[in-house]
Amino acid sequence: MSNLTPREIVSELDKFIIGQSDAKRMVAIAMRNRWRRQQLPPELRDEIAPKNIIMMGPTGVGKTEIARRLAKLAGCPFFKVEATKFTEVGYVDVESMVRDLMEIGINLVRKEEMEKVKVKAEKHAEDALLDILLPSSKPKQPGMGFFNADEPAEQEVKPAADQSSTREKFRKMWREGKLDEREVEIEVTVQGGGVEIMSMPGMEDMGMQVNDMVSKMFPGKKKTRKVKIREAYDILIQQESDKLIDMDNVAELARERVEQGGILFLDEIDKIAGNQEGGGSANVSREGVQRDLLPVVEGCVVNTKYGMVKTDHILFISAGAFSYAKPSDLIPELQGRFPLRVELTSLDKDDFYRILTEPQNALTVQYKALLETEKLTIDFSREALEEVAFNAQKFNDETENIGARRLYTIMEKILSDLSFEAPDRSGDSIVIDKVYVQEQLQDVIEDRDLSRYIL
Ligand SMILES: Nc1ncnc2c1ncn2[C@@H]1O[C@H](COP(=O)(O)OP(=O)(O)OP(=O)(O)O)[C@@H](O)[C@H]1O
Ligand SMILES: [Mg+2]
Repeated sequence: MSNLTPREIVSELDKFIIGQSDAKRMVAIAMRNRWRRQQLPPELRDEIAPKNIIMMGPTGVGKTEIARRLAKLAGCPFFKVEATKFTEVGYVDVESMVRDLMEIGINLVRKEEMEKVKVKAEKHAEDALLDILLPSSKPKQPGMGFFNADEPAEQEVKPAADQSSTREKFRKMWREGKLDEREVEIEVTVQGGGVEIMSMPGMEDMGMQVNDMVSKMFPGKKKTRKVKIREAYDILIQQESDKLIDMDNVAELARERVEQGGILFLDEIDKIAGNQEGGGSANVSREGVQRDLLPVVEGCVVNTKYGMVKTDHILFISAGAFSYAKPSDLIPELQGRFPLRVELTSLDKDDFYRILTEPQNALTVQYKALLETEKLTIDFSREALEEVAFNAQKFNDETENIGARRLYTIMEKILSDLSFEAPDRSGDSIVIDKVYVQEQLQDVIEDRDLSRYIL
């Protein structure tokens, strides 16, 4: 588990998210509390429940982004789900989010384990690749070989010394990338025989177990595919790492990681709070969802494909605009499980300017890099970006406030001509200035109705 201090966490988040310091502080504390808990003796450790968080704030101000970044930098399994999903017809059981989280945990741990065996796997994959290319040099796996008929020499049986030198010659060619474009046949496993057992509402568990049983009964079918050598190598790395990794161990580590470090992000929680748009039967199902959520948030055991997962120490971060409902409209039991509340502020033009320029992955950086692939160099003047920020705030005020997402639509509009023409302007270098921005936005600035559709 990550041992970043709250201050370090906040400064990491600062690299991607502008402002919202209260929310950053709060998630940083929640994260540190988990680490603190880990340091305690087991008796006490098990007693301490996570302090779940509700983030309140208008759309597009960074709620999801903060949670996602937090999970990423701490290496925690993270899964986001819209609470409203559970109110939809066709009843999705709320425990499914724990199963989804577990899948994410498995992938996370599997990737880490793969990284550990990478060097070995690469070596094995290279050998396996040479076996395919030169079946005679190491008689194995019949039925695989070159597709190029104009390469018959290697098929013949040759003296051993000769074979190994051919093998080394090929190895060298492969390492120099000279074989990348050639095609080979490779055996791949395709999962499942297309049997998918539909689960009935409320019986997802059973459906899942049956599916699992079926896939054990019919382990993936083998199929030969014709692929470029480069791709074959990637497939072989996958196959060789799978052989080197102990999946039981991965499942065990993932379960531990999910139980102790998992983060479930419950979006649109305000939409399942009661007391919205009068009474009606819809409220019943909203409250029903809250009641369903309760045991998962409070701590229960969920049956997953990889065994039982306890939810007691999973951190829940919920978010919502809360423009109509308030946290106190949630059922009391659920309120109690989300003791930490934080408000995110709506963003203004100064924030927008910073969002455009400061984050490592800022939009301006992204566009520059994208157009650079066409050898078109763009730069933005300070005034140009101030103009963008100014317009973003203006459009948010005058039409609908969609927060930082407004920057996406505006930037897309400003750069649409250049994006289209880029291949023809290869080699050019362009500075986007204030006038250019104004020109590109002219039609929408003049026509208020148009701006509603375009930006
Ligand atoms: N404070 C911020 N700093 C940097 N970028 C931001 C900020 N707020 C939002 N963004 C950008 O806007 C996008 C939308 O933000 P995010 O997904 O966090 O919105 P949200 O608050 O979860 O809104 P919603 O209620 O609609 O889910 C993000 O992808 C992010 O790039
Ligand atoms: Mg969101």
